[in-house]
Amino acid sequence: LSIHDFIRQIPKAELHLHIEGTFEPELMFAIAQRNKVAIPYSSVEEVRKAYQFGNLQDFLDIYYAGAAVLQKEQDFYDLTMAYLLKAKEENIVHTEIFFDPQTHTERGIAFNTVITGIHKALLDGENKLGITSKLILCFLRHLSEESALKTLEQALPYKEWITAVGLDSSEVGNPPSKFQKVFEKAAEKGFLGVAHAGEEGNAEYVKEALNALKIDRIDHGNRSLEDPNLVKEIVDRKLALTVCPLSNLKLQVVKSPDLHPLKKMLELGMMATVNSDDPAYFGGYLNANFIVMTDALGLSKEEITLLAKNSFAASFLPEDEKEEKI
Ligand code: ADE
Ligand code: ZN
Repeated sequence: LSIHDFIRQIPKAELHLHIEGTFEPELMFAIAQRNKVAIPYSSVEEVRKAYQFGNLQDFLDIYYAGAAVLQKEQDFYDLTMAYLLKAKEENIVHTEIFFDPQTHTERGIAFNTVITGIHKALLDGENKLGITSKLILCFLRHLSEESALKTLEQALPYKEWITAVGLDSSEVGNPPSKFQKVFEKAAEKGFLGVAHAGEEGNAEYVKEALNALKIDRIDHGNRSLEDPNLVKEIVDRKLALTVCPLSNLKLQVVKSPDLHPLKKMLELGMMATVNSDDPAYFGGYLNANFIVMTDALGLSKEEITLLAKNSFAASFLPEDEKEEKI
């Protein structure tokens, strides 16, 4: 078995995946047409040409514009099902999906429309494709804490469908402490917590995510490596990092594949996992992320196996279900 085939066949979990970031141009065109909304591109090729980003904000501007095409429950169902079919092809047997309700409610789409479409697809994913899943509600950190609190209120009637809350969007200038109250309230209601931290922001952002938000898992976390005491805490507490190699390269968080810190994280004893973040925008799904790292860093089958095991160990599945999948 070649190492690339080994990557393709090993069962994996994906823990950092924005459903709006799986919106492929072909589906975007189809949904725009049936909803009769205009998009600023005339062809799929033109869309792909526009996907060149100098940093996180350049990407987010395009990503939010694309998401504006989504209006009906069926749109959210189709988006989610398209990802699940990809996941099936890639041997992803468990997935924990982020969604950004404010991206839609701010445009007048009902919370119920968004979550019902996604939830119905996840049910079909489990029943028809055998893929288990969890849903994570992300607050947009460029908006106010008040808006996040309102979003948490809207989510409460759907509590059974949502496992955790998260924090995403523009990191620098929007530190975790801005969202301390909403994460406290979410914890009181029984949600787990995650946050994007240390992607563009420095190690202080990661420390705040741990101390102010009391998160259970760190999304990205790359810049934790700048603080040895923080690395020690992350290792000692067995906190997982959801690392996104192709995202880091496209957003120029890491300048080239051979400079990526993934292998270093494993060597330091950190529980790193590999994930695709926004695969329609960053040029590849989960296996492509494993492959780019394996080719650049010379990952062994043992290291790939460890990363796959970490993906289940770091998941929010109950312990007995983790055991079954590892
Ligand atoms: N939203 C979607 N992808 C994101 C990322 N990589 N960082 C922050 N917010 C995001
Ligand atoms: Zn992300």
